[in-house]
Amino acid sequence: MTVRSVRRMGDPVLCARAQEVATISWAVLGDLVCDMKDTMAALNGAGLAAPQIGVPLRVVIFGVSVNPRYPKALPVPETVLVNPVIEPIGEEQEEGWEGCLSVPGLRGLVPRYTRIVYHGFDAEGTPVRREAEGFHARVVQHECDHLDGILYPSRIRDLRFFGYETALFPEEFSAPDV
Ligand code: NI
Repeated sequence: MTVRSVRRMGDPVLCARAQEVATISWAVLGDLVCDMKDTMAALNGAGLAAPQIGVPLRVVIFGVSVNPRYPKALPVPETVLVNPVIEPIGEEQEEGWEGCLSVPGLRGLVPRYTRIVYHGFDAEGTPVRREAEGFHARVVQHECDHLDGILYPSRIRDLRFFGYETALFPEEFSAPDV
């Protein structure tokens, strides 16, 4: 088990476009995914992208089971996604609160497509293709943004809705870190 340190906003690896996983990289993918799962679990996150632990490859993981810390969050299947692609279904977007392990302590209101199709490969190279909506779709869009060097604060439309979680929501948790 290896819990890696999570890079924080300002680290150049979080601003760069990550590279596709090529055939030659699949052999080392298992170790990377294990470290990502261990790190996400240790920090109670709902998702993690490889650049967040300093690895500039297009790999994300996410998943939310029943978690007392996020009582309002609907379950999201535990997923490893390599070389992911997202296609919006329709134009509809909705605003929702997000946090990020690379931007600790803060929350922001972020617009995301309400419904998407995403596809890619799991850690064994098996194709994955799913439709998602709501919180599930939001988490996938947040993680895939990491692969293009985008952190959620840059998507906030109104910076009045960006701040410290304890100031915005003094009585409850608002959103998982992803
Ligand atoms: Ni994040």
